[in-house]
Parts: sequence; C-alpha cells; structure tokens
Amino acid sequence: MIFDEYYIKSLIRSVNDWPAPGVVFRDVTPIYQSPKAHRMVIDSLIQRYVDTEITHIAALDARGFLPGAVIAYALNKPLVLLRKQGKLPAETETETYDLEYGQATIEVQRGALDANDSVLLIDDLIATGGTLLAAATLIRRLGAHIYEAAAIIDLPDLGGSTKLQDANIPTFTLCAF
Ligand code: PRP
Ligand code: ADE
Repeated sequence: MIFDEYYIKSLIRSVNDWPAPGVVFRDVTPIYQSPKAHRMVIDSLIQRYVDTEITHIAALDARGFLPGAVIAYALNKPLVLLRKQGKLPAETETETYDLEYGQATIEVQRGALDANDSVLLIDDLIATGGTLLAAATLIRRLGAHIYEAAAIIDLPDLGGSTKLQDANIPTFTLCAF
C-alpha cells in the first residue's frame, strides 16, 4: 500500500486549547480506529527499516508503544520500553524534560542496551522534541547508538525535529502540521 499523506492527515483530529490553552492537540487515535490507515502508517515504517542495521526498537510511553510494539514484532527485533517515572522495576536510568504542556520524567532499565546496539526510537509525534531528546540521552547513557528517531507526526513550528538534528539524532516523520 502506497503511503497517502493527504489521507492520513485528514484523519488526524486537531483539538484547540487542549490539554492547555494555546495548544492545538493533534489526535492520532482515528488512525488506530481505521485498519486501512493503521496498516498504511505501520507498513511505511516497516518498509523504511527492514534490511537496516537496527538491532533494537525503543518505544516511548505511552503513545509510542502502539507503533513501537508492532514494528518490533514485524522486524523481529527486541523492544525496549522507555517508561514514565515509577513504572519500571529494578535499576533504572532517569531523565527529566520539558514538553509543550508540562514536564515529565522517563526511565529505562539498566542493561537493556549496550555499545553493540543500534536503536530505532519510536514515538507518535515530535513537538518540542523534549521527549525524544530525553530518550536519546538515556540510550546514549547506556552506550548504544541511535540509528534514527521516527514518529508519525512532526510539528515543525515547535522546533523539535530541528533540535533533534542539531543533537545528531537523525529524524523521520510521515507527515507534518
Ligand atoms: C506526547 C507525545 C510525545 C510527546 C511529544 O506524549 O506522545 O511523546 O508528547 O512532545 P515533545 O516533542 O514536546 O516532547 P505525552 O507526554 O503527552 O504522553 P502520552 O504519550 O502518555 O500521551
Ligand atoms: N504532544 C506534545 N504536543 C502535542 C500536540 N500538540 N498534539 C499532540 N500531542 C502532543
């Protein structure tokens, strides 16, 4: 199936002033409610990353878990969960960051990755880039290499994808608002 950016963008719902005044929230849930759109998005990402040097998929809590898990399954790669604070047992590495509507902390389990690993980071959306930058910091702290950070949506006016590229994190998104 050929990726149809116009079709995918037409499904993403824009909600003004949510969850805070001034934010235009880009809601991806209609993509998951359409098997055709879900398949189109996931298949495009699988095609991009099949036959690459990627050793692991790392997915962001919570919306990144949906595409991340399916892509890890399809590529037959291990899935590393980057979770919001307080959810992962045992020893973790932790990073706090700002996002468009607040602050958050994510964690990864120590030993989940090492210097031999080349990681594909997956999330649903890049806004300020704070989340993926924090994720990249954690992955690099474990010694692993970042192959690319991928998301369904980029919000370029918020500067996140530029900030990621400035930090030597290659980024890929399927559509932009
Ligand atoms: C959203 C989204 C990304 C992040 C993008 O997650 O899923 O992870 O914000 O924003 P940024 O580029 O400014 O960091 P959120 O923290 O709202 O959590 P959720 O996935 O649990 O809804
Ligand atoms: N995460 C951060 N900013 C967002 C936005 N504008 N829409 C959806 N998710 C987001």
